[in-house]
Amino acid sequence: MDQGIVSVAVVTATQARILEAQAAVEGDGGAVAGCYFQGGVRGPLGLSMVQQCLQHLAAQPLPPPLGGHRHQGDVQFIHHQPATGHGHQGVPVPQPHPGAPRFCQLALPLAAAPEALQAGLVEGQAVVQVCGGERAGAQHHRDVPYIHRLFIPIAAPAMVISREPVALAQPFEADRDALSPNRNLTPLTTALDSEGRLTVAGCALSDLALTYGTPLYVLDEATLRGTCSAYREALAKHYPGEALALYASKANSSLAITALVAAEGLGLDAVSAGELLTALEGGMPAERIVFHGNNKSREELALAAERGVTVVADNWRDLELLAELAPGLAGPVQLMLRFTPGIECHTHEYIRTGHLDSKFGFDPDQLEGVLKHLAGCPWARLTGLHAHIGSQIFELQPHRDLAGVMADALALARSMGHPVVDLNVGGGLGIRYVASDDPPSIDGWVSTVAGAVVVACQERGLVLPRLLCEPGRSLVATAGVTVYAIGSRKDIPGLRTYLSVDGGMSDNPRPITYQSQYTALLADRPTAEATETVTVAGKHCESGDVLLKDVALPPASSGDVLAVFATGAYNVSMSSNYNRIPRPAAVLVHDGVADLVQRREQPEDLLRYDVLPARLRSVG
Ligand code: LLP
Repeated sequence: MDQGIVSVAVVTATQARILEAQAAVEGDGGAVAGCYFQGGVRGPLGLSMVQQCLQHLAAQPLPPPLGGHRHQGDVQFIHHQPATGHGHQGVPVPQPHPGAPRFCQLALPLAAAPEALQAGLVEGQAVVQVCGGERAGAQHHRDVPYIHRLFIPIAAPAMVISREPVALAQPFEADRDALSPNRNLTPLTTALDSEGRLTVAGCALSDLALTYGTPLYVLDEATLRGTCSAYREALAKHYPGEALALYASKANSSLAITALVAAEGLGLDAVSAGELLTALEGGMPAERIVFHGNNKSREELALAAERGVTVVADNWRDLELLAELAPGLAGPVQLMLRFTPGIECHTHEYIRTGHLDSKFGFDPDQLEGVLKHLAGCPWARLTGLHAHIGSQIFELQPHRDLAGVMADALALARSMGHPVVDLNVGGGLGIRYVASDDPPSIDGWVSTVAGAVVVACQERGLVLPRLLCEPGRSLVATAGVTVYAIGSRKDIPGLRTYLSVDGGMSDNPRPITYQSQYTALLADRPTAEATETVTVAGKHCESGDVLLKDVALPPASSGDVLAVFATGAYNVSMSSNYNRIPRPAAVLVHDGVADLVQRREQPEDLLRYDVLPARLRSVG
């Protein structure tokens, strides 16, 4: 671990928690007698990282208000006995499976704990020992009237990676579009530091790799906020009515992204109970969420309807299930109707959804029948229409055509008395994965869509609806970079050179699924001359597990850090545990600080849901 990486923010965050606890107990006549961290570390890597942290930090004075109080001789490692399932002081710890890497429980000075947490290897809590007056249920101690412990779960705090200003050199994107990140290969904050290393938001990618391990998903907050404001501003500029961009969270669903997108004033599209819960827990107001899906379960529909989320009815079964649920609901269900617009566009066959042979939405021929049916359903309040033509689209004409088709549907629905106020035109704007990609800008896309909707409504004498759109990829892809460590190299003379990285199709299944292309650079030598043609392979047992085929790179070898760009969309959300490979950690970077937003899975985590029937357990 880099001795230079000691976070001020870490200590501050910890202190804040201690101060909170202190305030709580002092009001009650108590005082903080000591603080320490208690938790579990799994795996040999976890142990060695924590040991390194401790060696470095144990010598440092504890900051106020810890005031030199340390728990029973500072650092303690209490090696766990796998057979008992219990560690120090009878605190239960997760039971490792037979043959798992060693598990240990530890108590350490609180100031050191967050460093260990940072790596996502430790789970635990701050323990604040409080002494004070008598209190019911308090645990008695020889020297003080009472001493008891408060247990405060600690979330991984932010890590200051760098506060040094970074040179604003741009390694290869001289034509960067600051207003439309989807037109760039790299995040908006990408720059070189004084050593010529690649940095994003002031954090050197190789420092992040060292601190958090690899593979690592890195997400640039400024780029994500930039795309949100690009959509927001373009809608305000080009559409005379009300408008709202909904983030299609299938692109990358997490609490942190939800919180950012909600703070930027956008809404959200969810397609499963998991995405819905993430949205609600992440702070997205229910009235800004729409719930999609071509095969929603009763439970999913109940969750959406009970929480006041707009349900996008995709088929007759949705309507049947909702009708059954309706008597138990407080009010009518807010509905949007999805139909297939019958529009062809040029994108990969798997990500085309608007053509007639699609599993999504009502067939246009059914629309009138559905609208008639809904007019007789007092439990339903149809307020919107939805269509989506596909994804990674560079053409604008299909979006223009869609406006006309949707305006016809809007006229029909309104003529039948439905209070339709929302027209949701879906997502689909493409991004730049490789230099030859040239997608429209967010402003250009919104201007086309908004203009076409206005014209189509005028032509039909319709009052303008609220315009909704659902960008996923173009909102989040360019903010993301995946950082890998290069491992083995295989030269096949006259044929190919393979460089293998420590991830692959489990963290990015797009190349093997859609033959998608990506752009990569060596994190510490981004401007070195690319003199070799190599194929970057993943580590999975599958010949097709190739991330980049025949790309130019400077000579690279084991230990070099590789940055692959534009991985913010449909990477983590489509990731798997193929070959029982744990999912990477994810960090959000902003102004020199990295926040862990997704812990790295550990191999032991992958066994959590396995059940070994008793009769299969070997004896002895
Ligand atoms: N709305 C609906 C109803 C959708 O089905 C989608 C994407 C979106 C919005 C967002 O579209 P976007 O703005 O991201 O293009 N896994 C594929 C992409 C599948 C897209 C599915 N639907 C990929 O990795 O390319």
